[in-house]
Amino acid sequence: MTKSDNITWQNSKVDKDQRQQLLGHKSAVLWFTGLSGSGKSTIANEVEKRLYENQITSYVLDGDNVRFGLNSNLGFSAEDRQENIRRIGEVSKLFVDAGVITLTAFISPYREDRDNVRKLLATDEFIEIFVDTPIEVCEDRDVKQLYAKARRGEIKGFTGIDAPYEAPDKPEITVDTSKQPLATSVDQIMAYLNEHDYIN
Ligand code: PPS
Repeated sequence: MTKSDNITWQNSKVDKDQRQQLLGHKSAVLWFTGLSGSGKSTIANEVEKRLYENQITSYVLDGDNVRFGLNSNLGFSAEDRQENIRRIGEVSKLFVDAGVITLTAFISPYREDRDNVRKLLATDEFIEIFVDTPIEVCEDRDVKQLYAKARRGEIKGFTGIDAPYEAPDKPEITVDTSKQPLATSVDQIMAYLNEHDYIN
C-alpha cells in the first residue's frame, strides 16, 4: 500500500474563478530565482508592497523564512533543495487556487525542479523571474557573510561556489540588479503584470 491509497479528492463549492472575481484580479506565481544575495527577497517584498498599495492580494514565500517552519527539516543537499522546491510549488498552487498573487523567493538552483513547479500550474499561472545578478556582485555584497564563510570552507555546498546554479532558459522576466536600481526592476515586473492583464 502506498501513502496515498484510500484517499479521494474533495471538490469545493467555491472555485478559483469565483475567488478571483471576489478579489478583483487574476492569481499567479511570480517565481524569483537567482543566487544568494542576488536581490530576490528585496525585489519580491517591494513588488508585494506595490501590489498592496494597488489593493491587490499578494503574499511572499521567502526561502530563509520558510526554512524556519514548514521546511525546517531540510538542508542544502540536492535532494533537500528538490524537496524544498517541490513543497513550495505545492503551497504556491494552493495560494493561486485561493486567488492570491504569490511571490516566491528561493534560489531554486535546479532547472528541472523549477520546471516541475511550472507543470503543476496553468501556463499563465507561472511567471519565472530570473534575478540575473553576477556572482561577483553577490559576493561583493555578501550581506549575510555567507560567501566569505563558503570561501573559507566553513559552509559546504554553497550555491555558486561549490554547488551549481542552473540559469533559466526562457524566463518570462529577467532583471539584473547590478545594472538597474531596485525601482526599475519593480516597475518592470509591475508593467509585465499590467500588460498581461493580471492586474489593471
Ligand atoms: S534552495 O536552494 O532554493 O533550496 O535555497 P533557499 O531555500 O532559497 O535558501 C537559500 C538561503 O539559505 C541560506 N543558505 C544557503 N544558500 C545557498 N547554499 C547554501 N549552502 C546555503 N546555506 C544557507 C542563504 O541565506 C540563502 O538566502 P538568500 O536569500 O538566497 O541569500
